[in-house]
Amino acid sequence: MHKSSTLAVPEHSGVPRHLAIIMDGNGRWATQRFLPRTAGHMRGVQAVRRVVEACGRRGVHYLTLFAFSSENWRRPQEEVSLLMRLFVQTLEKEVGKLCEQGVRLRIVGDIAAFEPRLQELIRKAEERTAQNDALHLTIAANYGGRWDILQAMQRMVAAQPALLADPKGIDEEALTPYLSMAFAPEPDLFIRTGGEQRISNFLIWQLAYTELYFTERYWPDFNIQDIDAAFEWYRTRERRFGRTSAQLAGGV
Ligand code: IPE
Ligand code: IPE
Ligand code: MG
Repeated sequence: MHKSSTLAVPEHSGVPRHLAIIMDGNGRWATQRFLPRTAGHMRGVQAVRRVVEACGRRGVHYLTLFAFSSENWRRPQEEVSLLMRLFVQTLEKEVGKLCEQGVRLRIVGDIAAFEPRLQELIRKAEERTAQNDALHLTIAANYGGRWDILQAMQRMVAAQPALLADPKGIDEEALTPYLSMAFAPEPDLFIRTGGEQRISNFLIWQLAYTELYFTERYWPDFNIQDIDAAFEWYRTRERRFGRTSAQLAGGV
């Protein structure tokens, strides 16, 4: 279990230990080319492959990708269906390759909303890759940061009903084991492609002290040079976690 980075300062190395990405801009990438938005999503899968491989090679240990938000159900039904089909196809096709690369796959989010076949594929893929440790790849699907905090609260209270009588016992350490990313340290670096500068209900709890990087590049075009540019920027950041520069320099 990892402690909240707001309590303990993680080591700052050149490569983020945990990288979290909002893969945005698929629709605009396609529209710009007079293609249906769905073409952008299909092309986006190639970028996922590129990024997973590059992160593995660069020594990123946790990579978390936002694939479908709890709000994305509001999109036209056609687009939602295509995204679900793409999810199924990608799981069917890619899990073997992930295993070869030593990637452990997890899906976080409210997967009960997915059709049973997809739920079963998710379960199998997680099981098949469970022994891998080179890169922990997490796909956030039907995920929302608010959902995550609420489900954590609910599970915590169900497991420890005494907390209801003594709510002061609820602190960060009590809650974090129930959050869906409890297995990972908090993200060191966040990247959002597609030009928007917002969190869109991604890991709202876990991003409290994450370095935030935004790029105009649409997700299907996001490439290895773009990752390296983000890592280069990350290296220049001084992560203070509330402390002063002098404290960090002097180790006081
Ligand atoms: C991100 O790209 C993929 C998902 C949200 C599933 P978008 O589909 O949001 O692309 P834009 O933002 O409309 O260009
Ligand atoms: C965030 O992108 C969700 C994913 C990339 C999966 P959106 O495109 O849904 O975000 P908004 O609506 O522009 O905030
Ligand atoms: Mg978008």
